[in-house]
Amino acid sequence: MGITEGLLALLGKDVCQDERGMASRLHFFGSIPSQDERAANESANPVHTVTLSPKVVALVSINGGVGRSTLATALSSGLQRQGESVVALDLDPQNALQHHFGVSSALPGIGRTSLEHGQWSQLQQLSFAGCQVITFGEVDIPQQESLERWLKHEPHWLAQHLASLDLSARHTVIIDTPAGNNVYFHQALSVADVVLVIVQADAACLGTLDHLDGLLAPHLEAQHPPRVRVVINQVDERSAFSLDMVEAFTQRLGKAALQVHRDIAINEALAFGVDPLDSVEKGLAADDINDICRLLKAPKTSA
Ligand SMILES: Nc1ncnc2c1ncn2[C@@H]1O[C@H](COP(=O)(O)OP(=O)(O)OP(=O)(O)O)[C@@H](O)[C@H]1O
Ligand SMILES: [Mg+2]
Repeated sequence: MGITEGLLALLGKDVCQDERGMASRLHFFGSIPSQDERAANESANPVHTVTLSPKVVALVSINGGVGRSTLATALSSGLQRQGESVVALDLDPQNALQHHFGVSSALPGIGRTSLEHGQWSQLQQLSFAGCQVITFGEVDIPQQESLERWLKHEPHWLAQHLASLDLSARHTVIIDTPAGNNVYFHQALSVADVVLVIVQADAACLGTLDHLDGLLAPHLEAQHPPRVRVVINQVDERSAFSLDMVEAFTQRLGKAALQVHRDIAINEALAFGVDPLDSVEKGLAADDINDICRLLKAPKTSA
């Protein structure tokens, strides 16, 4: 048994010996959650369908540190360079996009502004390639907890704030979310046209796809369900293991995932607060990011 089959067997996905089982469970990620799992998710996370003018792209993952914020930054810059009007929105209390985009911490972000019933329109800051950034801003733990309690009971919170920005169909909103199952994930999913599931080429990420299936299931049953694409980040062409893991993802998903190569210039861009696309201009990672941007530019119905 090769490493790919071995990993899938370990995760209960022995596709070579159970092609019928695999085919029957193929959905977005190669399996459909059980009825019980779906029922549990539906009651926990009721789906509310909201239609917005701009295209909304949500970056999500179960695992932390896989590159959501980095890719949110690079894709915002890439899309803006390709002629789109981009608003990058940090929906993660970690407030990392402020550092990725090198914007000021003097303005409050959406956390405090929302708690004070303020408008988001004053929060946009100009950044890489001319895109706009809205930070989460600094909040203390009691503020974060009360915001999260509120969001649990206000499923339209994000949709209403995005609508107040008065964005047109020429705009793309790129949303960064915290890792795992949380109120921000579900708010983002309630408005997303495209969901990019960010993973790394490792067994830890491969093992989370069932969990993700369960979290996404109620949103995929909405009237206008988002399209879901998996992006394997930090692929290392020189590592046989990395390439084997990419193959394992392909088998698990039933189709090839999008890929972004590892590039040390991306680490350096974050450290120096510069546009990652300036740093990786001629590398494989730049080509990957530009390819994903071209995909994201497709009309909402076919992105
Ligand atoms: N393609 C890449 N090549 C090289 N380094 C990368 C790449 N993508 C991300 N990184 C690096 O990986 C680290 C983690 O990235 P990032 O903070 O974007 O992850 P995250 O998923 O947003 O993490 P968190 O769960 O903490 O929010 C950073 O140091 C970043 O520079
Ligand atoms: Mg992050």
